[in-house]
Amino acid sequence: MNKNYLQQILNKIKIPDYKYFKETDSTSTQAIKWASDGAREYSLVIADSQSAGRGRNKRTWITTPGASIAVSIILYPTTQESIKLGLFSLLGGLALSNALITQYNIPSQVKWPNDVLIDNKKTAGVLAEAIWQGNKLKGLVLGIGINVLPPSVPRPDVLLFPSTCIQSHTEVPISLEELLGHLLHAIITLRKSLLTPEFIQNYESKLAYKSEIISLDIGDHHTVTGHLLGINRNGEIILREQSGKEQSFPIGDIKLRPQ
Ligand code: BTN
Repeated sequence: MNKNYLQQILNKIKIPDYKYFKETDSTSTQAIKWASDGAREYSLVIADSQSAGRGRNKRTWITTPGASIAVSIILYPTTQESIKLGLFSLLGGLALSNALITQYNIPSQVKWPNDVLIDNKKTAGVLAEAIWQGNKLKGLVLGIGINVLPPSVPRPDVLLFPSTCIQSHTEVPISLEELLGHLLHAIITLRKSLLTPEFIQNYESKLAYKSEIISLDIGDHHTVTGHLLGINRNGEIILREQSGKEQSFPIGDIKLRPQ
């Protein structure tokens, strides 16, 4: 990224502080350390490249210099928000999806809980990590990785899910710095509605596979299959199983979409 341009953009949206690395292990690892040292809310860690970028479920995450965004945002959830921490990964994905349509006219969907899809292909992932001191919540780091330009799209043989990048869906050249600014602005705005029914409705209106039959990997080699009904106010996914029973799940990976 261009540091001067980045600085200008971050000043406009009143980001209190940021660290920018050409290369680091993981922006989220750095942000967790910084939060523990008292970083202010909405401080950012940004990197062009990560040697140990991580995704959900201990997967690795590749960041391509000049073509991807890797950012970790330090947040201090309020007491009310901290009861519903699961909403924070939804916040990151939905904010990006909102920014894509309003700024670039690119429609996208959110794949629960943390992916953003364009044309059914993944373009971004969110990793929300809570920081605990004993049983007290110290803060939360929202790590977001976005494939922006074509070199950021991983080779198909290393992928669990088809992948794309934002630039492949518009003729307008995308600037990494501007896109980051739009994303941050969308997160700050959307967080104001995090605990409201509108947030859930907004998320559900973009939810991939809604009303379809999906399989959800809930860990320990357990999979549940059912109709995807939506999400509840804690951000948990709600499935109706074949027996008619409705169940919600706080974590899981949508593995496949039976035809
Ligand atoms: C996923 O799809 O599994 C989530 C991917 C999250 C990747 C981002 S890149 C910035 C931040 N730093 C990390 O090490 N991970 C997140």
